[in-house]
Amino acid sequence: MAQRKKLIVGNWKMNMNVHQASVFIHHLSKKVAVHRDVEVVVSPTMLALQPLSLQIDRRQFKLAAQNFYFRDHGAFTGEVSATQLSGLVDYALVGHSERRHVFHEHDKLIRDKVQAAVRNRIKPILCVGETAHERSEGETTGVLHDQIVGGLANITSEELSSIVIAYEPVWAIGTGKNAMPDDVKKAVHTIRNQVKHLFGEAAAQAIRVLYGGSVKPDSAASYLAIPGIDGLLVGGASINVHEFELIIASAHHRADSPEAWAL
Ligand code: 13P
Repeated sequence: MAQRKKLIVGNWKMNMNVHQASVFIHHLSKKVAVHRDVEVVVSPTMLALQPLSLQIDRRQFKLAAQNFYFRDHGAFTGEVSATQLSGLVDYALVGHSERRHVFHEHDKLIRDKVQAAVRNRIKPILCVGETAHERSEGETTGVLHDQIVGGLANITSEELSSIVIAYEPVWAIGTGKNAMPDDVKKAVHTIRNQVKHLFGEAAAQAIRVLYGGSVKPDSAASYLAIPGIDGLLVGGASINVHEFELIIASAHHRADSPEAWAL
């Protein structure tokens, strides 16, 4: 049975300034115990990464970038590279639905970003998920297949070990609509099958898969109980200290339960 560390990621999106981010982490740090089998990651505004990197205890929290450009340096006004983020963050979101749909990021760019992150020793959290329309047309499996094949196209088996995949159905993000655990279970199965097809059985067992989309304290435990789910990518509830603390506590309970590591 695979032993995969639980991972709880708070995507703060375009919320909180540097001062507010610092105050938030100060309060959260008083509530969150360090747990050997649970990683807690926060993804603040790019501006707050540097000050928070000095403020946090990395055994308690790690940092993730919400975005970056795939080139390492050069004439790309306004962009920040994975090279510049290297050492500052452990993780970076890639292919988040807001990047895909609001900023029209396509599979080739996402693939280049995954590769740039790995090249700079940052673990990419590759986000995949179908829209409401794709879901109603029965295209979920095909969409997940295309996004995984596209996102991981240039990755080797050794590099795969640093990658996390987050299943975030677009229609569940920021809507309060809950994906049914059975649907999430099916999607996770599709994702691991695709990884198995590309990289083999051991890789499919080892890769961490998260769920994201309107996760709240009262739904966190049921998502964490889905076989094959290793953690959560949390938006709205991650910018509320109390709610995020409760979600992290659910992961602690889960990691301590005997059946926690079933696939
Ligand atoms: P919500 O939890 O607000 O639905 O956001 C999910 C998300 O997009 C995390 O990346």
